[in-house]
Amino acid sequence: MIDFHSHILPAIDDGSKSEAESLLMLNALKNQGVTKVVATPHFYANNESVTHFTHRRQKAYDKLKDSLSEDLPEIVLGAEVRYYEGISRLEGLRELCIEDTEMLLLEMPASRWSEFMLRDLVDLTSKSRMTLVLAHIERYMSLQAGGVFEDLLSSGVLMQINAGFINDFFTRRKALNLLKSEKVHFIGTDCHDTVKRPPNMDRALEIISKKLGKDFLDYFINYGNEYFCENSDSILISKG
Ligand SMILES: [Fe+2]
Repeated sequence: MIDFHSHILPAIDDGSKSEAESLLMLNALKNQGVTKVVATPHFYANNESVTHFTHRRQKAYDKLKDSLSEDLPEIVLGAEVRYYEGISRLEGLRELCIEDTEMLLLEMPASRWSEFMLRDLVDLTSKSRMTLVLAHIERYMSLQAGGVFEDLLSSGVLMQINAGFINDFFTRRKALNLLKSEKVHFIGTDCHDTVKRPPNMDRALEIISKKLGKDFLDYFINYGNEYFCENSDSILISKG
């Protein structure tokens, strides 16, 4: 299983504070069935350049690298890029795509999105060789006008939810319906530490297996893995 959204790199954002904490988080993810984890530190274009960010990210990863053993989940470098109007013109935006993919994890504002923003998202998807993945869509789904998510999905935008959305009894049914209707492509723990926002993939996998069946869970896991295969174009087109 891939954990598509995490703050697992040490001392780069409000996530893990040290190498020791990162290793505890990685061990927890391993025990929860995660084989690959996308490290998605926050990127804010008003705070730093893409080059500065990727340099800091590499340094954080390098600090951890020597302590990584083969049985731990593989770390793939990415970013949680905060959206702003005009982001499509940001120099070096493509460098923030998840390593070896064309997927960009985008954190949208928790407000109703303007027509300009929606056009910006579609433009980014259709005019660049990038595939947008909207982070934890449960945070802003209900704030949007009807049909917005369906329109984005049909434009090829992909969706990520947090494991907590499935784990929470009060939102579980909604999360499972989205999964079942293939409106969600990835699940992330969005883990920040080992206590307040710890890795919580195990419960989500258990619930999916119980409510939607083991076959569905296997299908979903394989489906996510295929986005990281070299030949990912076919799946992106068939899903788009
Ligand atoms: Fe996050």
